[in-house]
Amino acid sequence: LMATQAPVLIAPAMNIHMYENPILQENLRKLRRVGYEILEPGEGYLACGYEGKGRLPDPEAILDQIRWQLKKKDLTNEKLVVTAGPSREPLDPIRYISNRSSGKMGYALARAAARRGAEVVLISGPTALMAPPGVKLTAVNTAAEMRQAILDEYATCTGVVMAAAVADYHPAQFSADKIKRGTGSLQVRLEPNPDILKELGQRKDGKLLIGFAAETGNLEANAEKKLREKNLDMIVANDVTREGGGFDGDTNIATIIDRRGATRSLPLMSKDELADHIFDHLLTLRR
Ligand code: PMT
Repeated sequence: LMATQAPVLIAPAMNIHMYENPILQENLRKLRRVGYEILEPGEGYLACGYEGKGRLPDPEAILDQIRWQLKKKDLTNEKLVVTAGPSREPLDPIRYISNRSSGKMGYALARAAARRGAEVVLISGPTALMAPPGVKLTAVNTAAEMRQAILDEYATCTGVVMAAAVADYHPAQFSADKIKRGTGSLQVRLEPNPDILKELGQRKDGKLLIGFAAETGNLEANAEKKLREKNLDMIVANDVTREGGGFDGDTNIATIIDRRGATRSLPLMSKDELADHIFDHLLTLRR
């Protein structure tokens, strides 16, 4: 190990008292000082029968850290606002209107951007996901809250990537009490939400704007229309009716269209891989 010139990651795993031993802790500090990366052990049941800190982290976490260390840092000049997940538009204290977005696409984008050295603010609707390491998370519920959170960061960011599935409408009236079951039908009137990306495109202020288009037909024509109408630099069109594409799963099938008219259709791939393609394309636009 001492002979290698490669970056080294150490994932210590042992009995909790061994791990907390001051001699071991001093040795870990020494290793950190000379440039070795240490991945903190997890907490829980230990092979020796004790409970506590000392578990080998999940293989996925180790792999994530390796990817993080090896990734080229080509986004260090960017501060990116990434949005993810659905918005929830409340009807009463219990019910809301929402959609099938899991947040996986947005979280993959935030993870990739942070790995590549960008400062990342992830503005997320409700999801079951953990914020990726090194990312500032702002949790929101409604489209109006998402809009405000983005505007709060807009002046200091270099770009916005909107993978969130923002509801286009919200109930015109919020009932402070639970809506009771009646005998007849119930009508809910909906009012339009602000189109956040369109508003950003009208201001622009030199920021790079990347949108997504979730389509069920005429993929490229509809996406291109959104690119122009919202004054975007790039749009990632996904046909959400295709197997393995769009909502919820770990994969996506996308076509990237940019403001110069360049179009790139990508095959089925993981959302993590797609995120890297999107940032590679962002760098070509920057150049
Ligand atoms: O979250 P996952 O389960 O991983 O699924 C990923 C995804 C399918 C949600 C994602 O890949 C995707 O396509 N996100 C955009 C969904 C969407 O709202 O598309 P749209 O065509 O309705 O909107 C176009 C763009 O305008 C989007 O960037 C959207 O964020 C933005 N928008 C939409 C409405 C609104 N009121 N304000 C907006 O800014």
